[in-house]
Amino acid sequence: MVKVFNHPLIKDKLTRMRKIETQSTKFRDNLNEISQLMAYEVTKNFEMIDIEIETPVAKTVGQKLKDKVVLIPILRAGLGMVDGLKQLIPTASIGHIGLYRDESTALPKQYYCKMPDCLKDSNAIILDPMLATGGSASEAIKIVKSFNPKSISFMCLVAAPEGLNKILKDHKDINIYIASLDEKLNDKCYIVPGLGDAGDRLFGTK
Ligand code: PRP
Ligand code: URA
Repeated sequence: MVKVFNHPLIKDKLTRMRKIETQSTKFRDNLNEISQLMAYEVTKNFEMIDIEIETPVAKTVGQKLKDKVVLIPILRAGLGMVDGLKQLIPTASIGHIGLYRDESTALPKQYYCKMPDCLKDSNAIILDPMLATGGSASEAIKIVKSFNPKSISFMCLVAAPEGLNKILKDHKDINIYIASLDEKLNDKCYIVPGLGDAGDRLFGTK
């Protein structure tokens, strides 16, 4: 399943992030806000269970999420999506996958992986604002699959068609959520028009 968002608020905030003059504080705020807007759709099919509660007026039956949610940012840039989602799902646990693209080959190198025990049987949401060649996302999905979660969703802000096609080829069984499907990759495997290096812009490292 692939969902490309076409929402005015998301477009407006993403345009602010794309602008070269946007500094890291505003970049981070908009990234968190877009993540929250996307979360409404990402979580809409999560199963619920009934619970008996008492309001100040009467006993009634309410609902709560049936399964644990695990947020899994791909370091570094995925970290910029965690706070917004954690505000909406305070009970979520957080796993981390460290991957960086080798500058000469654009292939992902893994340097870290730490998952919560509850990942098995949870709804896993992998977070990374950028889907370029798809190498990092595909590797992250493979790692998460090895923990047997109940479902896997991948959330990104900006995707290139090349990256989307790679995930669709490597992993047909996951849900993919994209704020904007951009035009193409350039010869350095950066997304065009994109927003540049998301990790550097988020953390002010360049
Ligand atoms: C960026 C981005 C993705 C990856 C996407 O991370 O956050 O993880 O590139 O590219 P791909 O689809 O071609 O694999 P980067 O490797 O720059 O690491 P960083 O976030 O630590 O800077
Ligand atoms: N990683 C980024 O941060 N930006 C791109 O355009 C491609 C990969």
